[in-house]
Amino acid sequence: MSAILPLYPLENPMPKALANAPIGIFDSGIGGLSIAQEIAHYLPNERIVYYADTAHVPYGPRTDQNIRELTAQAIEWLYRQGCKIAVVACNTASAFSLDYLREHYGENFPIVGLVPALKPAVLQSQSKVVSVLATPATFRGQLIKDVIQRFAEPAQVEVLTITNLDLVPLVESGRYNTLECKQSLQKVLDPAVAKGADYLVLGCTHYPYLKQSIQELYGAKLSLIDSGLAVARQTARILLKNELISTDSQESGVRLRCFVSGQNAKELESVLKHLIQPEITWSIENIVEKLG
Ligand code: DGL
Repeated sequence: MSAILPLYPLENPMPKALANAPIGIFDSGIGGLSIAQEIAHYLPNERIVYYADTAHVPYGPRTDQNIRELTAQAIEWLYRQGCKIAVVACNTASAFSLDYLREHYGENFPIVGLVPALKPAVLQSQSKVVSVLATPATFRGQLIKDVIQRFAEPAQVEVLTITNLDLVPLVESGRYNTLECKQSLQKVLDPAVAKGADYLVLGCTHYPYLKQSIQELYGAKLSLIDSGLAVARQTARILLKNELISTDSQESGVRLRCFVSGQNAKELESVLKHLIQPEITWSIENIVEKLG
């Protein structure tokens, strides 16, 4: 792997983060809001700064090195905003970036990453065939290979790896419960169901928004698993260990501040109105400063 230069040198020693600082969450687009909402519910005293790299979404078809560079820029931006921890709420970005980021920032800025939640699917599958829907880049990464080797192989569970590049743009444009979306899902899920898969791991943070469509298509034939709650719990554990749990009550003010790197904050606003649960107060703005 070729090296990525840190965008800015870090202060030496790095200052310790403040417990009442926000949690930083990053995704290529709006998919990571599925994780942000789980975190907002699980940790009710926390504020969240959310970075959506809408100038570069989708990441799925990009090269490993390009994904690593875009992710490094995004995490650097969250760090500069004064966040106390960063959650890489993107399986594709996590696949290539976690080691580098952890080495770069060290323990004063913890990084939480994601990998498709294969373990619970393997443990619960009756048919011993599970499917994982993720981007092609996620399947190239070492993290998913390690999880398959660690959990699926010893249990002799067959893993069907499925990709579909239409789905992320459909979610980004708010077209996740449409006929077009269902047809796109059927193209890749019908063959998996025909091969006996009884579980589907949603290995991309955009896909929890497809649950309704998938359930309408397959009902009880296909059980769905996503990473949301597990990531919220892991974030809480790390905050607790580092004495970084916020004591602020979040009864007033905006809990979830979304920033987008593209110029599309206005258009996304109408998509987010349907996507973010009404009890979470939120805002959205374009990032004005130049990155990198
Ligand atoms: N939400 C992403 C993931 O979890 C994004 C995919 C993309 O940008 O292609 O993998």
